[in-house]
Amino acid sequence: MAKTWATLGVDLHLQPAGPGVRRGLTGALREAVRTGRLAPGTRLPSSRTLAADLGIARNTVADAYADLVAEGWLTARQGSGTRVADRAPAAPPAEAARPRRAPGAPTHDLVPGTPDLASFPRAEWLRAARRALTAAPDRALGYGDPRGNLVLRTALAGYLARVRGVRTDPERLVVCSGFSHGLGILAAVLRARGASTVAVESYGLDAHWHLLERAGLRTSPLPFDERGTVTDGPGGPGGPDGPDGLEGAGAVLLTPSHQFPMGVPLSPGRRAAVVDWARRTGGLVLEDDYDGEFRYDRQPIGALQGLDPDHVVYLGTASKSLAPGLRLAWMALPPSLVEEVTAAKGRSDTCGVLDQLTLAEFITSGAYDRHVRAARLRYRRRRDALVSALAEHAPEVHATGIAAGLHAVLRLPPGTEPAVVQAAAWQNLAVHGLTRFRHPRSTATPLDALVVGYGTPPDHTWATALNALCRALP
Ligand SMILES: Cc1ncc(COP(=O)(O)O)c(C=O)c1O
Repeated sequence: MAKTWATLGVDLHLQPAGPGVRRGLTGALREAVRTGRLAPGTRLPSSRTLAADLGIARNTVADAYADLVAEGWLTARQGSGTRVADRAPAAPPAEAARPRRAPGAPTHDLVPGTPDLASFPRAEWLRAARRALTAAPDRALGYGDPRGNLVLRTALAGYLARVRGVRTDPERLVVCSGFSHGLGILAAVLRARGASTVAVESYGLDAHWHLLERAGLRTSPLPFDERGTVTDGPGGPGGPDGPDGLEGAGAVLLTPSHQFPMGVPLSPGRRAAVVDWARRTGGLVLEDDYDGEFRYDRQPIGALQGLDPDHVVYLGTASKSLAPGLRLAWMALPPSLVEEVTAAKGRSDTCGVLDQLTLAEFITSGAYDRHVRAARLRYRRRRDALVSALAEHAPEVHATGIAAGLHAVLRLPPGTEPAVVQAAAWQNLAVHGLTRFRHPRSTATPLDALVVGYGTPPDHTWATALNALCRALP
């Protein structure tokens, strides 16, 4: 049933029924602001009043307002309510040229992997870029050392030793375009050395498994229990029915500080066991320290590489701490691997020197530490809000893996994962079930859970995203 919304004295026809109520309301309001029917500064009715006028849920109005605040059409201030923004976004040039959101495209992105891009430290980064380029000698603009710019490798060696307990030096560091680039290079080196299998965790990113498999390596999932990945169990890479284990693998890929996505750290006994395995067999441990900077409740767990720099390759990335679009990551290599990895990377450096020099300046000036500290505080608040919202609205759902990182695993009643993922889609939420992170050959008991990334939404939409998530939970 169409309704004319008279509260503001504007001619807005809404369709306050069915699944599209919120979208209809958001669209009508946006259109009214865009065309000037709602003048800049106009105060909108409270969500309670408007919801009562329209006969719809108050949350629907609040969500529509929050969407429009996020888009810049409205502003919301404590004490002065929700108003039409003074300088609303410029109207697009032509209707036909306007990019449209795909019908049903999610409003909130809770897929783990991306940090809050709105809080990228643009001003500090630009200042660092200016200082770095001013100071760089002309020769820095040449093809460069394939391992990456020495100024960055020196800054990283100091930073990683201080913050993550990594034992390395600039000669053994190689800069790469993201963790995945580094993993691809290592896969080629392993294959060339004759390795045929890489042990991986039962839960992880399929993109990484595919990358190894495309290089000709078999991925063999390790067992997983309530204490995380089992690196101290018997057995080698299993067949379809056999036990999985480390024996016979040429390398093992692990996320020891914060298992992705389950969140458990590798226990001290299992850390020692995997290092023993590497020493005994000559195998390599590939340590993915993707979110090592973000630990909230305790002292960060030091890098596994610190236990044995001759057998562990440490891989870090700027993708969570700054932005994945930078495509900047680094590997601290055992001495025996440096030559092969450098040769496999290619004859010239593959990462832009300006970004490398900027990151070096960002680190040495202290801006990186300041940025990480501020980001840690922001994400910690989000995590705390998530835990409180669950306690209040979904007490059956238990969040795990929350001591660190930018995501949480919400354990669901058995058999409910597909329905909850579907319910989240109805709430315009992009979120993944745990099943999609499970290795196809894993023998671990399947679990029902949601993997909720709380890094991606900008601060001002986080509360709305959280409300929508709670509505989708059992
Ligand atoms: C488990 C894990 N490892 C590594 C990365 C970083 O990958 P990259 O540096 O290629 O962006 C991510 C990013 O999402 C991740 O989730």
